[in-house]
Amino acid sequence: MRMNGSQTTSTAGGGASATAIAHPNIALVKYWGKRDERLILPVAGSMSMTLDSAATTTTVRLGGAADAFYLNGKRVDGKAAQRVSVFLELIRERAGSCECATVVSNNRAPTGAGLASSAAGFAALAVAGAAAYGLQLSREQLSALARRGSGSACRSVIDRFAVWHTGADDTSSYATQLSAPEMRMVVCQVNSAEKAVSSREAMLLTRDTSPFWGAWAGHTERVLSRMITACEADDFTALGEIAEAHALQLHALIMSAEPAIRYLEPVSFAIFDVIKQLRESGIECYATADAGPNVVVITRPRDTVVVSAKLAEFGAVHTAAPGRGAYLSDNHLTVPECHA
Ligand code: DP6
Repeated sequence: MRMNGSQTTSTAGGGASATAIAHPNIALVKYWGKRDERLILPVAGSMSMTLDSAATTTTVRLGGAADAFYLNGKRVDGKAAQRVSVFLELIRERAGSCECATVVSNNRAPTGAGLASSAAGFAALAVAGAAAYGLQLSREQLSALARRGSGSACRSVIDRFAVWHTGADDTSSYATQLSAPEMRMVVCQVNSAEKAVSSREAMLLTRDTSPFWGAWAGHTERVLSRMITACEADDFTALGEIAEAHALQLHALIMSAEPAIRYLEPVSFAIFDVIKQLRESGIECYATADAGPNVVVITRPRDTVVVSAKLAEFGAVHTAAPGRGAYLSDNHLTVPECHA
C-alpha cells in the first residue's frame, strides 16, 4: 500500500505542509534491547496492540531558517527538539532537500493516562514528515522510518495489531499487521511521584550488566513465535498468558541490572494480584506493564466494565480498543493556534 501526498497542502505564506495522527501502542511481546543503537535495530521481534485513544496529531510545515518544534502549545528546545531535528534530517537526506521545518504536535493523552509515549509521536512525525517532504513511502517503509525515531514507534504505524520483525538491516526491520483475538486494554495509571529512567538508558544498562542478558533475545523470539501461533488460532487465553509472563520476565530482567532498575511499584504488583484473583473468579484478564509503574490489563470486550471497576481503586482508568495506525489528516495545526 502506498501513501499518497494528496493531503499535503501548500499555504500562501509557507511551504508544503502535512499532518498525521497516530496512537500509542502497548506491547504484548516486549521489545527490550538494540543490536544497533544508531539504526535502532532490535535484538528480537515484538508484538503490540495499537490503541484507539490518546492520539498525537503532528503537522510538519516546510520553511524557516531553522527547525522548530512546538508540543502541546509550547516551544520545545534542548534534547527533545534535537531528537526531532535529527529525525527530520533523515527524511531530508532521502528527499534530497535542505529545507528546514516547523513541527507542531498535540498529544491528546487523557491527563495522567501514562500514555504520552514517544511511539505515537514518532509514528505521526514519520507519516507527516514523509508527506511534507514529498516522499512516497509504503506502509513498511513508513514503519521502518518511524523506528529510527523510537523503536516501538514502528508498531504505531500499523492498524490494530503489529509484529515488529528484527530484520537484517535498516530497510527490513519494520512492523506488519497480524490478526489477533478480539480484546480490549484497560489502562490503570497508578499514582507515582518517582521519575522513571528512560527505556533507552535502561536497555543499555540491562545489556551491559544483567547476568541474564544472554538468554533474553532467543527467549523473546521463541515467545513471539508462540504468540503468533496463539493469534492465528484466535486463542485469547494463550495470548493473555504469554503476554503476562513476558511482561514479568521483562521486569525481572530489568531488575537484574546493576544498579537495579525497578519500574514496578508495590501498587503495580497489587494490581497483578487482583487480576490473578479476577481470573480465578472466572473473569479472564491478564496484566502487562511497560517502562513504568502503570499496569495495562488485557480483557475480552464484555469484561471491560467489571475489570475497570476493580482497577478504579488503584488509579485513573481508561479503556482502549484496537486502533488505527498512523494516517494523514486535513486538520493542520498552526503555530499561532498552538500559542493560543
Ligand atoms: C518497555 O521504543 O521507547 O515499552 O527505541 O530507545 O526509543 P527506544 O525505546 P522505546 O522502548 C519501548 C520499551 C517498552 C516495550 C515495548 O514497547 O515493546
